Amino acid sequence: MSAFDLTPLLDLLPELLAGRPLVVLTGAGVSAESGLPTFRGPGGMWEGNRPEDLATPEAFARDPETVWRFYAWRLEKLRAASPNEGHRALARMERLLPRMTIVTQNVDGLHAAAGSRNVLELHGTLLVARCTDCESRFPAPEGPIPPLPRCRVCGAALRPDVVWFGEALSPATWSAASSAAEECAVFFVVGTSSVVAPASSLALLAARSGAYVFEINPEKTPIAPLAAGVFRARAAEVLPAIAAALQRGAA
Ligand code: APR
Repeated sequence: MSAFDLTPLLDLLPELLAGRPLVVLTGAGVSAESGLPTFRGPGGMWEGNRPEDLATPEAFARDPETVWRFYAWRLEKLRAASPNEGHRALARMERLLPRMTIVTQNVDGLHAAAGSRNVLELHGTLLVARCTDCESRFPAPEGPIPPLPRCRVCGAALRPDVVWFGEALSPATWSAASSAAEECAVFFVVGTSSVVAPASSLALLAARSGAYVFEINPEKTPIAPLAAGVFRARAAEVLPAIAAALQRGAA
């Protein structure tokens, strides 16, 4: 069990319980303990490809079948996964706090599956496929995925409804996430390497707007210099401890 000390955070918990806003930015590390590999950690490569080489519009235009095989692999892992103690602790925290927003880079839907409601999915969702022509959306194919799934409305190729490298985030989702970061009192950065923009800029935005930033990650990341506190341990250890401290404060 890793040692971490919640002391730097404890004084702020009554403020959160009283309604000052909390934002939690999550990345692949939150889902690591559900058995989903992170992108830049062990198991993150797929058949020797980096995500940056497959998750692009150019890769899809060049070779959509290979890109779909990558997503079929990820969907298969996701169908076998369930929320872990970290996801569940965040859902408990949301029930205790008047104002809490999760901003996630994850496309796995595990925050919602754990019961979180106020979730902004910056990078879209793997659970939906979108037509490359008419933009119709469908639940992602179940079971074996055809080499190139097609739209039931117009017959064009479907693509995963995720944001690829080089594509813009949904303006409405980004605007909600950046406003939440600017307005919050406390900002947690959990399980992200903080190297992919623009999500990586949210912690800086929050810190510049006066929020206390806390990092939860076993490894050091570029966020550390901004942080009022760092908890160098796994999300599934630290988040339940924070939820328990909030529960004691609310009792
Ligand atoms: N608890 C907390 N953090 C963890 C855990 C854990 N159990 N296990 C690993 N981590 C941390 C790693 O130390 C690393 O800093 O999670 C981070 C995962 O980093 P990345 O693999 O880079 O994932 P992420 O930051 O979410 O990637 C951002 O890149 O490929 C794109 O679109 C994709 O949304 C993704 C984006």
